[in-house]
Amino acid sequence: MTSQGLRTTRAVATFDPIPSRRVADSLVVDVSGAVPPGATAVAVAVGTDGPVPAALGLSRAALTAAGFTGAVGQALAIPGDTTPELVVVGTGDPAALGTASLRDAGAAFARATYRHASIAATLADLQGIDGAAAAQSIVEGVLLARYRYRAFRDQPGEAVLETLTLVADDAAADAVRSGADRGRITAEAVWLGRDLANTPPMHLSATRMAEIAQVIGAQTGLEVEVFDHDALVALGCGGLLGVNAGSGEPARMVRLTYRPAGEPTGHLALVGKGIMYDAGGISLKPSDAMHAAMKLDMSGAAAVLSSMTTLRALGCRAFVTGYLMCTDNMPSGTAMRLGDVLTIRGGKTVEVFNTDAEGRLVMADGIVLATEQGVDAIVTIATLTGAAMRTFGEVYAAVLGNDPGLVAQLRAAGDAADEPAWELPLVAKYRRQLDSKIADIKNMGGINAGTITAGLFLEEFTAGVPFGHLDICGPMMTDVDDSWRSVGATAFGTRLLIELALGFRTPAA
Ligand code: BES
Ligand code: MN
Ligand code: ZN
Repeated sequence: MTSQGLRTTRAVATFDPIPSRRVADSLVVDVSGAVPPGATAVAVAVGTDGPVPAALGLSRAALTAAGFTGAVGQALAIPGDTTPELVVVGTGDPAALGTASLRDAGAAFARATYRHASIAATLADLQGIDGAAAAQSIVEGVLLARYRYRAFRDQPGEAVLETLTLVADDAAADAVRSGADRGRITAEAVWLGRDLANTPPMHLSATRMAEIAQVIGAQTGLEVEVFDHDALVALGCGGLLGVNAGSGEPARMVRLTYRPAGEPTGHLALVGKGIMYDAGGISLKPSDAMHAAMKLDMSGAAAVLSSMTTLRALGCRAFVTGYLMCTDNMPSGTAMRLGDVLTIRGGKTVEVFNTDAEGRLVMADGIVLATEQGVDAIVTIATLTGAAMRTFGEVYAAVLGNDPGLVAQLRAAGDAADEPAWELPLVAKYRRQLDSKIADIKNMGGINAGTITAGLFLEEFTAGVPFGHLDICGPMMTDVDDSWRSVGATAFGTRLLIELALGFRTPAA
């Protein structure tokens, strides 16, 4: 194990695993009664209906003639030599103005001003929406859209955002400031999740992931326990160790604990799939473009870690335990084979039918550990099945569960975050597809309904605890900049889990 450790150390010797921290350290998000002198671009909101701010000196007819209708997603820099540059930003139908449209409008503004380091947005024209919610959404939209993965190079021609000022009346300033703070905390968590998922597997082993969790957990008020190979053997985590058997890198399980200040509203467990690289193991994936996306196979674990970093700062009242199940999945002479039988924590046996169905194996150990803690609900998040991506594409996650109240909480959290999830049924009849001739269960069903049979596999280990599962395979990445999603890892699920934890209540029995 020592030489393996050295290999990692050499690769990461001068490597900054969280380059977004540099950007965050020099970023100022401020609230002011006027556009500050340093701002070089200022957003002016214009909806599809209603007055055009007089200060623009432009009629709606003139904007329309320039192709600007006020639809959400539009942003138009007004030609002229004013400083700051005026940018009209569409906020859509005034009757539908809300957090989603403002997040998207913030993103459109940020992208239209990508050459500007200091920008400002006026909130005075946004009537009828809570100042704190508006500010949070705008800050999220701007910061998420300006995300770039900067570990290996800067983005040529793009400025790093240094100052974002929200211009608001004195009366609204306190609410706007608190909303802006929450938006910044949330966005920085997403930046962390994206940095982790975008990191090449050579630079982010399971060991490294655990070290990062320790550093960041200490900074954000979380207890962090790291379980190494021997500890995992002692715990009987045969799923995680089985997947790890082919790897030159040891596995790690990380348990994060958030204890709220007062009496907890409930105890929520989050279990994240942390496959640092999924080659498929002996069931090796074909050598195609899919391999290059498999560094993202730890996106579930990244979302659990990232979301939990915000809970103290956002005043979460639920008790939350997070499990990061980390290893890569590699083929080698020591790898688990097809037909091998693994014993999961707690004693259930699993026949391995396909070593590429590894995510459910590592998750099973985490689920069992969560049930042993007597939690009120277990939520799993994983890039689990290609079938979910085939079904839902890049925008929607799949959500499955054994408790309608918990699934409803997950869906509502996804809607609030604009990280939507759509439910698939856990069809009990399909459970027989997982029947094994020699073990309690096998790790793969038939060729159809792959997302559902994966969910049924996980449910097997939940011991009747309310259980919800997010399959984020489709939305884990994007090839193009699209509103709050920036090219590469999206860290989808981070904001959903934050919303879930903040509103969590024990599902009714
Ligand atoms: N990590 C993959 C799923 C995946 C596919 C994520 C594409 C992102 C993009 C997962 O471990 C996997 O290989 N799933 C198999 C399961 C099958 C062997 C039952 C799949 O979906 O093909
Ligand atoms: Mn796989
Ligand atoms: Zn995988």
